[in-house]
Amino acid sequence: MIIYKTLDEIKKIKAANHIIAQLFEEVLPKYIKAGISTYELDQISEDFIRSKGAIPGTKGYDIGRPYPPYPAATCISVNEVVVHGIPSKKQILKEGDILTIDTVTVLDGYFGDAAITYAVGEIDETSKKLMEVTEKAREIGIEASRAGNRIGDIGAAIQEYVEKYGFSLVRDFAGHGCGKEMHEDPMVPNYGRAGTGAKIEDGMVITIEPMVNVGTYRVKILPDMWTAVTKDGKRSAQYEHSIAIIDGKPVILSVND
Ligand code: MF3
Ligand code: CO
Repeated sequence: MIIYKTLDEIKKIKAANHIIAQLFEEVLPKYIKAGISTYELDQISEDFIRSKGAIPGTKGYDIGRPYPPYPAATCISVNEVVVHGIPSKKQILKEGDILTIDTVTVLDGYFGDAAITYAVGEIDETSKKLMEVTEKAREIGIEASRAGNRIGDIGAAIQEYVEKYGFSLVRDFAGHGCGKEMHEDPMVPNYGRAGTGAKIEDGMVITIEPMVNVGTYRVKILPDMWTAVTKDGKRSAQYEHSIAIIDGKPVILSVND
């Protein structure tokens, strides 16, 4: 069941997302350098989120057995990790790495959700292209999120764009509705067929979060039950925005304005 939001609720969801946008633009870039651990980046993120009066939505997030509750305030996915990388003191960033930081906040009962991929120093040309195409894929997905279209049009537009570059779209994870719960209907796949799925209408709040791989779209889950890596060990990137549909058009909520 899709839960449509009032403008007042959208304001609250935007406030939760605003904290993430600030974290991504004003805080984390100062710390993303060779030598820092993903654990430290997680601590910095959690402190910032709490300093804004919000709580981290992923910490303790429990989807039930056999999965252990998610242990951290961020998911930090380095290089071949696609999503849900668990921050660790043992994982030290190196020059040339790329990392996706995915963060969820809860403020005043509403969830914010966004992700960004950063480069550590100088990265190879393929990684640069991967990041550029993935960010643009998110923009194309957002563009397709308008009244008159259906949810399937979003994934179709993203897939058409990304596959032109020889990259692939992860299928095992998708965007989603977001509001009083982190994950609500509808599911928003990053691939698929135009003209399928629910109608896009005012009051919807959804995430657009393409995960793009250099090689195969197939992933496998590590024994920690969370970390998803590419099957071929090649790199992956992700950019995520939370958006609302207002007056038939997409409005990005995870912005720092
Ligand atoms: N930002 C992620 C998402 O888009 C959050 C899930 S991580 C989890 O769904 F650990 F909380 F599951
Ligand atoms: Co999400």
